[in-house]
Amino acid sequence: MEKFTEFWESGIYKCSKCGAKLFDSESKFKSGTMWPSFRKPSAKNIETKEDHSFGMVGTEIVRAKCGHHLGHVFDDGKVCGDKHPEAGMRFCVLSESLNFEKDNIIQRGAEAVLCIEKIDGKKVLVKERGEKKYRVAELDKKLRKERTSGEAGLLSKAVRNNLPVPRILDSSDFKIVMEYIEGEKLKDVFNQKSKNEIKNISSEVGSIIAKLHACGIIHGDLTTSNMILRKEKIYLIDFGLGKNSLKIEDQATDLYLLYESIKSTHFKHLDIIWENILEGYKGYQRHKEVIKRLEEISKRRRYKTD
Ligand SMILES: Nc1ncnc2c1ncn2[C@@H]1O[C@H](COP(=O)(O)OP(=O)(O)O)[C@@H](O)[C@H]1O
Ligand SMILES: [Mg+2]
Repeated sequence: MEKFTEFWESGIYKCSKCGAKLFDSESKFKSGTMWPSFRKPSAKNIETKEDHSFGMVGTEIVRAKCGHHLGHVFDDGKVCGDKHPEAGMRFCVLSESLNFEKDNIIQRGAEAVLCIEKIDGKKVLVKERGEKKYRVAELDKKLRKERTSGEAGLLSKAVRNNLPVPRILDSSDFKIVMEYIEGEKLKDVFNQKSKNEIKNISSEVGSIIAKLHACGIIHGDLTTSNMILRKEKIYLIDFGLGKNSLKIEDQATDLYLLYESIKSTHFKHLDIIWENILEGYKGYQRHKEVIKRLEEISKRRRYKTD
């Protein structure tokens, strides 16, 4: 396997000979071959030439403008790529002809692009909801604006209530600049923790949700991907699907989604995690009502799927 075949960091690939920008990590896809594969070049720094050697019909040699040999381009991308909705081209490039340069993007999600920037030497996280071409422009703008201001509003409210969430440093129509929480996604490390640590973390998660619900916030996407563990302390992020509500039904649904996500990602420890989350959740005055409703919701859903 070549160096860049199973390499998925965000950044740009440059010619290892002349340094010209060639491909963007965004166009890189899993082709199932031994070589790094791209859907399209990112700039006009590439030339192609038909290749008739070894009976290679319809195949072209790819070269950087400086003449450096990069690899071949095939038109079989559609069949060999798993995420390959467009052109069907596969630029099959030799790792040794590329240099990789990381950019500051940490995630290009369906909703937003997240990147790390530095302000006064301090890391900050910028979450920006970019244009979605498949939506009608006016509606798209409205949705992005609403979700951004909704998320910013909930984060500020959480901070005012002393909840462990990133502080907002700046926000505008489509962009939130917030404190960067250095740590690890709980999802990635939870399963490796000792029984005791799992107990403590779970009960902390429960007591954070108790406080969240007590001050009228519904998170809307409680999963361990939206929790960061820093020095034994849990932080909640991603309030993009959240809302203001004190309704028992909304609170129970919040917990129901968390239960389902833990069941799928931390199944091995499900019982001890859930038992301790509920223990922590007792910090919420109306916890009994919420748990009762949660049981009803579970029954309803089970009935539907059985
Ligand atoms: N304030 C933050 N500090 C550190 N990492 C963050 C922060 N916000 C988001 N991230 C990272 O970016 C990822 C995606 O952010 P998130 O807000 O959950 O967006 P999405 O709506 O795409 O799920 C998170 O899983 C986390 O790894
Ligand atoms: Mg998220």
